Amino acid sequence: MSKTLITLDGPSGVGKTTIGKRLALELNFEFFSSGLLYRVIALHNEKTNSFNLNEFEIVSNDPVVCKVDGNVYEEENLYTPQINRKSSEIAQLSEIRMVVSNVLKFLFDNSNTGLVVEGRDMGSVVFKNANLKIYLDASETTRSERRIAQSDNKESVEDIRARDSRDINRKISPLIIPDDAIVINNENKSIEEVIEIIKENLKLQ
Ligand code: DC
Repeated sequence: MSKTLITLDGPSGVGKTTIGKRLALELNFEFFSSGLLYRVIALHNEKTNSFNLNEFEIVSNDPVVCKVDGNVYEEENLYTPQINRKSSEIAQLSEIRMVVSNVLKFLFDNSNTGLVVEGRDMGSVVFKNANLKIYLDASETTRSERRIAQSDNKESVEDIRARDSRDINRKISPLIIPDDAIVINNENKSIEEVIEIIKENLKLQ
């Protein structure tokens, strides 16, 4: 039986990780946040001052631990204002997008279950053949309020705006609504309501 793949794309702070994790749990799927890989590469660059990425391994999935050329990076160290900004800057580089895309494809090919994967170009570029593509949206103010409520990743409206602008306006794989995506504006919806909508749409596939 083939494995099911659900992509969740959308801007920063829209709830992709919260919804994706909950959805994956209910479906007994794996969950992965592709932004983590950009964050790991940003931290690796801070540490080594290089973009050498010869061996990139996801050592563990929850919490995520990655190993890049012998350096170990843990999820808890990846959500700082500096890495928020730097990850979106280095995400403009095509070589880096290629590495991330290959790591994600390898992850899916080697997983034993379905996968919920979230990011900016999951449905539009990396997993064009996904079974179900979701695009989540909400206003800048709401997204910033949600970020400020997160103890580990506070981001102001200005920070969110700058990051969105880079992610939307970059030349390669910008954040777009994939052609065949279901768009859900979750401004006034609970997590449960969004998950129900996604599950209903999955049944229709
Ligand atoms: O989802 P996140 O905030 O952890 O992502 C951090 C940055 O990584 C984001 O600002 C842009 C980049 N990114 C990307 O370009 N493509 C993705 N699929 C996921 C993240």
